[in-house]
Amino acid sequence: MKKAYFITATDTGAGKTFITAGIAEALRRNGINIGVMKPVESGCALKDGRLIPEDALKLKDASGTDDALDIINPYRFREPVAPNIAARLEGVEIDFEKIKNCFETLRAAHDVMLVEGAGGLLAPVTDKKTIGDLIAYLDIPLIIVANSKLGVINHTLLTFRHAIDIGLTVEGIVLNRTSDLKDQSVSFNRSEIERLTSMPLLSDIPFTKKETPNPLGLGVFDQLAKALI
Ligand SMILES: Nc1ncnc2c1ncn2[C@@H]1O[C@H](COP(=O)(O)OP(=O)(O)O)[C@@H](O)[C@H]1O
Ligand SMILES: [Mg+2]
Repeated sequence: MKKAYFITATDTGAGKTFITAGIAEALRRNGINIGVMKPVESGCALKDGRLIPEDALKLKDASGTDDALDIINPYRFREPVAPNIAARLEGVEIDFEKIKNCFETLRAAHDVMLVEGAGGLLAPVTDKKTIGDLIAYLDIPLIIVANSKLGVINHTLLTFRHAIDIGLTVEGIVLNRTSDLKDQSVSFNRSEIERLTSMPLLSDIPFTKKETPNPLGLGVFDQLAKALI
């Protein structure tokens, strides 16, 4: 069994890291050899002269691997801006081949790979290529994380249709509640997205308060993980 998924989203902050870490930890608990990758991370804090890629570290921690951080996360940048701009500000050009080499190294060592994108499908990675182009280059199916709030139907369909238009394989959509503010759309989002994409949702993840002792230990992640192996 060798499987790999690219996790993208309707927007930044939609829950890619939260969901990817949740799946990674659920797979690990179920004895699956899981590898993770965050190819490009911008907005990294600087500590003692080193950039700290928080997402990559969260994923590494959830997966329990001892893979080198520089393979999990070959590109990290200081400024919290789109990858191509963050790279340009540091005089770097992101190389898809280098990302693919890291990915293939990790894929060879693990049974399931989860790769977290940056922003959404049309986020620029270089001045000419987007996250969608990177997914096509890695040649793996994608999972769309959609922030369940008013507007999510439009955002999800835009992402879904663009993925299909550029020839990507959509493995599924995960709805995620990043807020517990009252929002009437939430009771309709699942059924409408399923109706309009003709795809059953992989999961509908509830808002989880930070105080929850083990938010990643939620049963919903076990179900989601099982659907992916
Ligand atoms: N289901 C959820 N319940 C509670 N908080 C969440 C949930 N999903 C995401 N969050 C929080 O929302 C913020 C953005 O999520 P994150 O996974 O970092 O998004 P992305 O990786 O897409 O930028 C984080 O602080 C995260 O912990
Ligand atoms: Mg993230």
